[in-house]
Amino acid sequence: MKLLLSIFFCFTSISINALDTIAPDQALKDHNGDTLVSTGGAFELGFFSPWNSTNRYAGIWFKNVPQQTVVWVANQNRPLTDSSGVLYINSTGNITILDRHSSIVIWSSNSLAKNPVLQLLNTGNLVVKDGANGNYAWQSFDRPCDTLLPGMKLGWNLRNNQSWFLTSWKSLQDPSTGEFTYKLDPRGLPQAVLRQGSDIQYRSGPWDGVRFGGDPPLQENPVFKPIFVFNTNYVYYTFENNDNSIISRFVVNQSGSIDHLTWSQRGEWVKILTMQDDECDKYENCGPYGICKINKSPACDCPTGFAPKSPQEWNVFDWSSGCTTKTPLNCSENVRFRKFSGLKLPDNSNIFVNRTAMRSEECQVACLRNCSCVAYAETDGSGCVAWFGDLLDIREYSEGGQDLFIRMAASELESNDNDKRTVVIVSVSVAFVVLLSVSVSWLFIREKMIRRSKAKKLSINNPNQDYKPSVSEEDVELPLFDFQTIASATNNFSFTNKIGEGGFGPVYKGKLSTGQQIAVKRLSKDSRQGLKEFKNEVILIAKLQHRNLVSLLGCYIHGDDRMLIYEYVPNRSLNLYIFDQTRGTALDWGKRFDITVGIARGLLYLHRDSRLRIIHRDLKASNILLDGEMNPKISDFGLARTFGGDQTEANTTRVIGTYGYMSPEYAIDGLFSLKSDVFSFGVLVLEIVSGKKNRGFYHPDHDYNLLGHAWKLWNEGRIMELMDALMEKPVLESEILRCIHVGLLCVAQRPEDRPTMSSALLMLDSEDPSLPQPQQPGFYTERFPAEADSSSTGKRQYATNEVTITMLQGR
Ligand SMILES: *[C@@H]1O[C@H](CO)[C@@H](O)[C@H](O)[C@H]1NC(C)=O
Ligand SMILES: *[C@@H]1O[C@H](CO)[C@@H](O)[C@H](O)[C@H]1NC(C)=O
Ligand SMILES: *[C@@H]1O[C@H](CO)[C@@H](O)[C@H](O)[C@H]1NC(C)=O
Ligand SMILES: *[C@@H]1O[C@H](CO)[C@@H](O)[C@H](O)[C@H]1NC(C)=O
Ligand SMILES: *[C@@H]1O[C@H](CO)[C@@H](O)[C@H](O)[C@H]1NC(C)=O
Ligand SMILES: *[C@@H]1O[C@H](CO)[C@@H](O)[C@H](O)[C@H]1NC(C)=O
Ligand SMILES: *[C@@H]1O[C@H](CO)[C@@H](O)[C@H](O)[C@H]1NC(C)=O
Ligand SMILES: *[C@@H]1O[C@H](CO)[C@@H](O)[C@H](O)[C@H]1NC(C)=O
Repeated sequence: MKLLLSIFFCFTSISINALDTIAPDQALKDHNGDTLVSTGGAFELGFFSPWNSTNRYAGIWFKNVPQQTVVWVANQNRPLTDSSGVLYINSTGNITILDRHSSIVIWSSNSLAKNPVLQLLNTGNLVVKDGANGNYAWQSFDRPCDTLLPGMKLGWNLRNNQSWFLTSWKSLQDPSTGEFTYKLDPRGLPQAVLRQGSDIQYRSGPWDGVRFGGDPPLQENPVFKPIFVFNTNYVYYTFENNDNSIISRFVVNQSGSIDHLTWSQRGEWVKILTMQDDECDKYENCGPYGICKINKSPACDCPTGFAPKSPQEWNVFDWSSGCTTKTPLNCSENVRFRKFSGLKLPDNSNIFVNRTAMRSEECQVACLRNCSCVAYAETDGSGCVAWFGDLLDIREYSEGGQDLFIRMAASELESNDNDKRTVVIVSVSVAFVVLLSVSVSWLFIREKMIRRSKAKKLSINNPNQDYKPSVSEEDVELPLFDFQTIASATNNFSFTNKIGEGGFGPVYKGKLSTGQQIAVKRLSKDSRQGLKEFKNEVILIAKLQHRNLVSLLGCYIHGDDRMLIYEYVPNRSLNLYIFDQTRGTALDWGKRFDITVGIARGLLYLHRDSRLRIIHRDLKASNILLDGEMNPKISDFGLARTFGGDQTEANTTRVIGTYGYMSPEYAIDGLFSLKSDVFSFGVLVLEIVSGKKNRGFYHPDHDYNLLGHAWKLWNEGRIMELMDALMEKPVLESEILRCIHVGLLCVAQRPEDRPTMSSALLMLDSEDPSLPQPQQPGFYTERFPAEADSSSTGKRQYATNEVTITMLQGR
């Protein structure tokens, strides 16, 4: 209590005129500098003047950002000319801004509420609360200006046909409605469109169930998490900051640039991404049917089978007339579809979406049936999409993008295939000659290498008992990268290239000059391992090659600065899918099953088939990466061993591992064996089936974690209820049942009751229903130590907040 009181006084003594709520008998007066502050202190409402302007506006800005950054303006189109403004809420809940001298109403919210209170929430949302039921009668988040804060929406409430969209300011000095709007178009496939007046300047590309198809920039990153909601009531884009200390905003500026910015520790706004990345994002840059390819010069091109409609214009870099088919389409003749990959799908005008047609043939047949259908695409979330009329605003991406099938005369495809065949024959013979000369030189080099590796073998001396290093003749030295190569591949380790922060240091995405994509893990400097051990370990890890393991391509070592270079795996990690409401739908049961089996295969290889017998020790959903075809690849194997027991991962300080995945004997006694990996695998299996995290699992009826919940359902014969509701029905029940069964066997309390990975894999793959009965899982009632800690502090903090709020209100 004492502590709370002192916080309270501290607060009031800093800004005497600050209020946290406004009741009908109170007001914010401009002349004495009143402000309304949010309870968490992150935002402030008051009167301000933009730079170089004397006009006064009521607005909300970041309290902790020294550089005035206004996120919302009330009277943006009707400024006060002096500081005579007063803002109050009248007893019927109408927020009003008044010029005190003339008594003219400058602005009002037009809201209605009983016993209203005006409150600025910690999120920056200004709300009129209805005293009768606590509902918001009005909120500023429903009327965005140029800025989207975490939790604000860009899109539509389909129930009442209300739109949330952004409008730029006129200039830095003038917050009145500018000419740029960024608004979601909910027809067909939802996409966001930037307009200048009524002219389209840019569009995000359609939402495909995972991301805006045209928006490779809008991916998960260290600052914020993009979220898209699309159901019968709502369609909108929003985002949340990755943690509470981050300040970030999404804004349409006066020149129509759509940026996401974050307030950096250096004390300035840093741009994390711009939606309009390059010239090819300019709307309809290459005319109808034209494809914009940013790596080409000039960037405009016609798709294969198409030619410029007006070659003369095209030759003088006027692309506006676009392209047309070389052979005119004739409905009664044979037509085929050519696949184009990595594209931003064409604009939505004249689009037809059939959400029930999911199969490729259905989609193609549907398009063939109608003469005016010019192209189709199959999307993950929205099914079959067909285009009628001109294809507008197509661009190619260097990565990501979607597939589009464009209709053309069958003769067009055949003539092209002939060309291809010639090319293939020529290149095969060239390749043969090259191969021959390479093999000859290889024989010479090999002779040398064998001699060298024999010499090296003597120097490898592995101190770890788990490994049985056997370095044989075919060992090749691990490629060492030089710093310059890595720096230029990752854009000098730029913030935009950073794709994550693992337990061992930051991870950057990069692209070598050869075009190969890589992931660079820069190890934090406090790893105390000696150079020689490090090298030896890395060489051993690099030799592990399996399609379900991420392959290590090389490393960089310079004193303490060490980096590991891996193959880049485009679809990020499994946890981003299975625990996510929107992305979860992208993984149907078939895919989830394949992923489960893939993980089992990778783990079995580590445990048995590789010559090294590696225990992973930190198997978890975020360590399973997914490649372009959603095949799982286990990452971070071997590193746990490499970095010794005192290196920390996530929340633990002593043992490596992650609560929620650690077996009882490992978490409590620090004993690990192949069977501790089996336990983690079991947890993972149950998470994949249920779409719920073991750690942080919450059920209204009981206190068990996910394992306990599964065990309870199993014993009550209701185990199918564990299945993730996001998975589309119908599913193969027997397969799901077998997976859960194997998962439960793997999480048995006693290591000896758990199967080995090879028998687990056999059980997953077989049809044989006679599996042993699962035993009681380990760690199913008790909470994990760290988890118990964090949840109790969580509660305590929550209580503190409540008390604080009550006290401030009782003033
Ligand atoms: C404000 O006015 C000063 C002096 O006229 C000028 O140098 C400065 O660029 C202006 N600032 C803005 C944001 O326009
Ligand atoms: C609040 O505003 C409404 C509409 O202008 C008006 O009818 C009502 O009388 C006002 N109430 C008070 C207490 O001023
Ligand atoms: C709110 O106040 C304004 C200005 O007095 C008035 O024009 C408007 O009708 C009021 N709205 C409601 C819902 O009372
Ligand atoms: C929703 O708004 C759109 C355009 O603003 C309009 O065409 C449509 O009729 C509205 N629908 C309903 C149900 O109000
Ligand atoms: C708008 O943003 C773009 C890109 O971030 C920047 O180049 C431009 O200067 C900004 N315009 C204004 C008027 O601030
Ligand atoms: C389409 O093909 C049919 C049969 O080959 C031919 O009779 C017809 O004239 C063609 N139509 C056009 C518009 O080329
Ligand atoms: C959508 O596709 C399904 C499957 O091909 C088909 O049965 C259905 O008739 C289609 N719906 C429409 C409106 O075309
Ligand atoms: C083809 O599709 C267009 C657009 O959906 C429609 O207007 C037209 O009636 C269809 N034609 C036939 C023959 O189905």
